[in-house]
Amino acid sequence: MSADKRYYLTTPIYYVNDVPHIGHAYTTLACDVIARFKRLDGYDVHFLTGTDEHGQKVEKSAAVAGIAPQEFTDRVSQNFRDLADAMNYSHDDFIRTTEQRHIEASQAIWAKLKENGHIYLGSYAGWYAVRDEAFYDESELTEGEGGTKLASSGAEVEWVEEPSYFFDLSKWQEPLLKFYEDNPDFIAPKSRRNEVISFVKGGLHDLSISRTSFKWGVPVPNDPDHIMYVWLDALTNYITAVGYPNTDSDEYTKRWPVDLHMVGKDILRFHAVYWLAFLMGAGIDVPKRVFAHGWWTNEGQKISKSIGNIIDPNEIVETYGLDQVRYFLLREVPFGNDGDFSNKAMISRINSDLANDLGNLCQRVLSMINKNCDAKIPECRPADLGAYPVNGTLQDAHRLLEKVRVHIDNQAFHEALKEIWRVVRDANRTVDESAPWTLRETDPEAMASVLYILAEIIRHFAILLQPFMPQSCAKMLDQLAVPENARGFSQLQSADEEAFDENALKAGTPLPTPEGIFPRFSD
Ligand code: MSP
Repeated sequence: MSADKRYYLTTPIYYVNDVPHIGHAYTTLACDVIARFKRLDGYDVHFLTGTDEHGQKVEKSAAVAGIAPQEFTDRVSQNFRDLADAMNYSHDDFIRTTEQRHIEASQAIWAKLKENGHIYLGSYAGWYAVRDEAFYDESELTEGEGGTKLASSGAEVEWVEEPSYFFDLSKWQEPLLKFYEDNPDFIAPKSRRNEVISFVKGGLHDLSISRTSFKWGVPVPNDPDHIMYVWLDALTNYITAVGYPNTDSDEYTKRWPVDLHMVGKDILRFHAVYWLAFLMGAGIDVPKRVFAHGWWTNEGQKISKSIGNIIDPNEIVETYGLDQVRYFLLREVPFGNDGDFSNKAMISRINSDLANDLGNLCQRVLSMINKNCDAKIPECRPADLGAYPVNGTLQDAHRLLEKVRVHIDNQAFHEALKEIWRVVRDANRTVDESAPWTLRETDPEAMASVLYILAEIIRHFAILLQPFMPQSCAKMLDQLAVPENARGFSQLQSADEEAFDENALKAGTPLPTPEGIFPRFSD
């Protein structure tokens, strides 16, 4: 496979102290759709997710649970793997930062940064927020209740004073700014890129990258009194997973640099500033792109454990169905913006787009074929090609892949779906205009042609929508008797051909009895 047909993408690794909620499900879902899309489009994909298991926050949670940190992380990391199964994610690797391969990689990047002269020993005195695992300047703080001090994220900070190693981040301001300028698509969306640039322009301080006041982390090479700052350890997971420090290995040379780091807006700075500088300092190639998505609120309220309004993905999947949830999350909100989850919005999306538009189209076409064409793929008379309104829709369906591909490469999932739905709605309109039920009486062969064309249109939708709704599309393709090995994007017809190509549905193929795929919900 040629080098440009490879795609490596990552999710953030999740803090194990949290119960997995819709926010975590969202980041990985976005990656899952891209991974599935690229595989169907002929890429050799590597899709990585995992859990972030070190740091003070996890150590504290383990102490509260009354068990050793390793036992605690073994237990709670499983929750994220269960979520991955429940959401039907197709990751190729699940990394845990407590694994030996990762400890070795973290110590290796540290040694490289040290060797290259970017690490020095000093002492840190300043504010630290355990919840964010981040350091803050006095100027960034506000006063909380009872005289506490709060970071801009709302997390409480505590004063930390201890010996610490530092990374010379202040020296990276110019190289970073030049990199952003030379690579305008590195940070997306644009508004977030501007935020990062102004943050870096504001000046960078050297970064404390080791701690001595607790133990739960990767020991600093040759100075085991220190453990590595959890973010340096965590970010390194992205190269651990492709074999670092073994940079000559096939896996590493084939996969790195990564094509896409998908992150939430809250952790963009760590990826687009610190990680970039660490990699530059260690002489490692840098990522091609970082996309920062927005945050979900629940019925207008910030999602938080303390408010008790966490949306459990398992519960909504139970209520609405897995593919319905996957569709809603990526269709409802322009990817990159914040969004609000509400049951009303969910039901209205499912009913209008899935039940009324796509579900209804499949149901009516397949039932007509079942009743009027002996439950077999009908024959299309060459003379009928171009003669009925459904033909225009077929041409549009042929053009979809090219358009949708561009949207997926821009991580514009909502645009990709809107593009497909324009044609789904059009298909429903042109069935009415082509009126196969009338043709049944006047010209049954023409009816067969119209139904064949509609079945081909549905085949295109079902193949293209697999990344978003894998299970439902598999059912649609089963109902059209499309073999499992004929469901890749290479089976879609390209726009410039006049007649049907060899991948089109074969007349005479027996079809199963059609079944509804997207039930309606009462509002
Ligand atoms: N462990 C770090 C990431 C290290 S990556 C080297 C971390 N973990 S996290 O579990 O707190 O967050 C993981 C992801 O979940 C982030 O991308 C974050 O933006 C996302 N979300 C958490 N709550 C969210 C919402 N309410 N809405 C959308 N995404 C949110 O940060």
